Amino acid sequence: MSVALAGMFGLITGVGLTSPIRERVLRYAGIWIMLGTAFLVLPARWYFASLPAESRIYLTDLLPGMQHVIRLGIFAAALSFVLAALFAVAKPVWLRAPVVALILLCGFTVMATGEYTREMARKPFVIGGYIYANDLRLASFPTLTAAGLANSAKWMDGQSSDQVAEGREMFAIQCGAYHSVNGYRAMAPRVHGWSPEFATDILQHLPLLRGTMPPFAGNERDRAAVGAFLASLSQGGEEQPPNAELGHEVFQQRCSMCHTVGGKFRPLTLAGTEIDAIDGLLQQLDSLNSDMPAFHGSERERNALAAFLQSGAPN
Ligand code: HEC
Repeated sequence: MSVALAGMFGLITGVGLTSPIRERVLRYAGIWIMLGTAFLVLPARWYFASLPAESRIYLTDLLPGMQHVIRLGIFAAALSFVLAALFAVAKPVWLRAPVVALILLCGFTVMATGEYTREMARKPFVIGGYIYANDLRLASFPTLTAAGLANSAKWMDGQSSDQVAEGREMFAIQCGAYHSVNGYRAMAPRVHGWSPEFATDILQHLPLLRGTMPPFAGNERDRAAVGAFLASLSQGGEEQPPNAELGHEVFQQRCSMCHTVGGKFRPLTLAGTEIDAIDGLLQQLDSLNSDMPAFHGSERERNALAAFLQSGAPN
């Protein structure tokens, strides 16, 4: 990439020169761009091949948008190769400032998409297999699970009798780098309608949720505290909507963090299935797959959700 970028800056210098030195410089710079972008194929392939399977799945399945980013990068590299071949090497007399700008834009696009992909591929780690994005080391998990976060974290006062307050502190430690209550990646709208039981259950499955999250660190007591805190953010008490909307709402609250209907992220395709069969399925979600929480809602919510899933309307 540096070779290609050097060639691109060579074009900036060369385009203002006068003939015949102009043609010589542009040809020379063009060859650098062609060599640089052509050579990118090998390290890119090596990079994808050496990604651990759990990182690759983010790029291939779990973050569908990444496909576009990667394609854009490949397209920009190919375009700069072609433009350099055509305008700098074959016909340097045709090369004008706008084309140089376009080639430069392609170069920066390759860099940006490459960096973005690298950023995404390493999640939820900062250093793969060693330290998570929230600064917790993988090696500290057994201790945190055994002793509990309240007893291990140096910046906590130890256990308290106020579960929600304790949960808030643990949330700040584990999630605070990436989530706020009402601002950046706000939790309040995400936990709408969550009960403490459901929130506590969901915390066991964080790495499966949409996005790239580290697992929860701590023991059952810690998980219940953070669950209670999260549920306390949910503004409850409002009237439940009529059945048709209720199903959609229940899906958003209880399934959409791990599934879509009509989307690409772990899609559910239950449209047209017998409603009783879906209702039965909902009563045994946790036995269907151990990575899935049980359904915690009321019977009315369950029936409405079954109707929503049967309708196949996208969520
Ligand atoms: C914590 C994440 C999580 C949540 C929340 C969740 N699921 Fe799942 N679900 C999974 C995983 C993981 C699978 C396994 C299949 C896979 O990996 O694609 C699965 C599979 C399923 C399947 C079987 C799909 C198939 O075709 O094999 C159904 C049906 C399903 N989920 C329905 C639901 C419904 C309805 C909800 C909401 C009440 C829900 N799930 C909530 C994670 C979750």
